[in-house]
Amino acid sequence: MQIIDGKKIAGEIKAELKATTERWLREGKRPPHLAAVLVGSDGGSETYVAHKMKACEQTGFQSTLIRFDSRVSENELLERIARLNADEDVDGFIVQLPLPPHIDERKIIETIDPAKDVDGFHPVNAGRMMIGLPCLLPATPAGIMELLRRCRIETAGKRCAVLGRSNIVGKPIAMLMAQKTQSGNATVTICHSRTKDLADVTRQADIIIAAMGQPEMLTADMVKDGAVVIDVGTTRTPSADAKSGWKLKGDVKFDEVAPKCSYITPVPGGVGPMTIVSLLNNTLQAASLKRSSCNS
Ligand code: GUN
Repeated sequence: MQIIDGKKIAGEIKAELKATTERWLREGKRPPHLAAVLVGSDGGSETYVAHKMKACEQTGFQSTLIRFDSRVSENELLERIARLNADEDVDGFIVQLPLPPHIDERKIIETIDPAKDVDGFHPVNAGRMMIGLPCLLPATPAGIMELLRRCRIETAGKRCAVLGRSNIVGKPIAMLMAQKTQSGNATVTICHSRTKDLADVTRQADIIIAAMGQPEMLTADMVKDGAVVIDVGTTRTPSADAKSGWKLKGDVKFDEVAPKCSYITPVPGGVGPMTIVSLLNNTLQAASLKRSSCNS
């Protein structure tokens, strides 16, 4: 059994990104620039955005954090997005989700210029991904695919169970795993809250990608010997041992599932760090495309 060290692999990718940024600087170009819009002060969102900004610093990317009070109006937010779309100095930006209930998330996402949509959430990017055209991929699925590639895990012809059907992870990762690409070509089953006899599906799977957001729901009896298990869950659960009062729990009951696996990702330190480097990679891609289209 091999525990996939997502933090180490993400560190290697950060070093590659930093080398690219340094080359750009030597060539007289400015570094890639990622902006993040954060509405309110939800603890999880604060942490995620802080990690994204820190990763920019580590790789020499420029970053800008734009904060709004949770009472910001939808119009004010839309107006700020329009300005980011038009800002030549910003290569890509994200609007951290979730947003307060009075703001229509879909409307916000659809206002982002698809060329700057480094989260890959805009319908244009989602649609292009679906038919295999070049696009900005959502960061978590892109990070999972990169982990599988870097660990040389065979996917072609394998049975893959994706647990969860969110727009951010479940649906796009299912599509990427099934696509006719080097790290795709799997036979994919998407499972969700209405799936009957989930364990029957997971026990047949060579690769399980758990993205339900239900702590420790995947237990040893649901996994066949030698399976590859990718845990996307990150639920904050109360913990008396932790200084913060909480700890992150994945969707997999790690201690009992790990001994059965050929490969497994831990939480934290598995998929999470890969999501962040994929976001940076998308920003680099957005910056490169912009420059090639205006010959600068
Ligand atoms: N909230 C949870 N995950 C994400 C993400 O990948 N991007 C954004 N913008 N918000 C999120």
